[in-house]
Amino acid sequence: MNWKAVTPSLGHATSGLIRWLDWSLSKRRSRQAAAFFYDDSSCNPCGSRSFMKKHFHSIRLLTQALVFFGAAVLGSSVQAQADEARAKKIVGGSCFVCHGAEGESSSEVFPRLAGQHWEYTAKQLENFKNGKRKSTAMADMVAKLTPDEMVALGKFFEKQNPAVEPPKDAELAAVGKFIYHKGNKYSGLAACASCHGAEAKGTAALPRLAGQYAGYTETQLKQFNQRERTNDNAVMHAIASKMTPLEMAAVAEYLSGK
Ligand code: HEC
Ligand code: HEC
Repeated sequence: MNWKAVTPSLGHATSGLIRWLDWSLSKRRSRQAAAFFYDDSSCNPCGSRSFMKKHFHSIRLLTQALVFFGAAVLGSSVQAQADEARAKKIVGGSCFVCHGAEGESSSEVFPRLAGQHWEYTAKQLENFKNGKRKSTAMADMVAKLTPDEMVALGKFFEKQNPAVEPPKDAELAAVGKFIYHKGNKYSGLAACASCHGAEAKGTAALPRLAGQYAGYTETQLKQFNQRERTNDNAVMHAIASKMTPLEMAAVAEYLSGK
């Protein structure tokens, strides 16, 4: 959520509501106070006047608090809807050609984005823009994106359902399953699961790999190995440099059906 954008309008909305509430309460209060407290002087000794006064004060505070939190919730959901609409428009305007309208992607060359953690997606978009991650296909796509739009796009894709298809080559996938979960102790290759998780769903800082196209995953592993994947490749370069081409293809095949 973009708090910088939300806060001023939220502040106005909230203070406007509170001012209106104050005004209407004070009008009501003076009328009711006149009726209940001042006219009924016989009630003074019983102490109800001061009780009612306190009562009104706490009602006012409580209502102000409710209005404040209500406006905050309303404001943030309005902003979230605006962000989602903006992201949808950007996707429909360009990204869909390669990544599909819902991040399902149209071919093995284009990574699936559905279900990916928004933090990871936003970071990749930022890295494409500042040149840390080199890609001729993506450089033009991100040139005009603002940081807020990158976050909105990330959140949009995270919400989409990742596609699950069985791997095309079950035997190759079985080799990949072993490598993914156990690594290769003969070459010192760490198990992918130790970082990307047993379900390959990743975390905010670690990409989700489950359901990704085998072609894309394999290409990334090769690029990490050759340091052609230029952003944050220290960790993955160390991993990929220990992998044989068969292991790369196998693990990619396994992940495509996960
Ligand atoms: C012309 C095809 C094309 C279009 C259009 C396109 N992309 Fe891409 N995108 C690619 C390719 C190819 C890659 C892989 C880049 C690489 O490995 O160098 C990629 C990679 C990405 C990645 C990195 C995914 C990962 O798992 O690391 C993200 C995020 C992404 N694109 C988002 C977008 C967004 C958002 C848009 C629209 C603003 C968009 N792309 C438009 C082709 C495209
Ligand atoms: C020590 C932790 C660690 C281990 C073990 C590890 N990875 Fe990674 N991996 C990372 C990190 C961190 C990134 C994110 C790189 C970035 O932010 O650009 C990553 C990124 C990736 C990507 C890029 C995803 C994308 O969408 O572009 C692929 C593919 C990948 N890893 C596959 C593997 C495979 C396959 C294995 C096992 C052979 C493995 N990783 C083991 C930490 C690890």
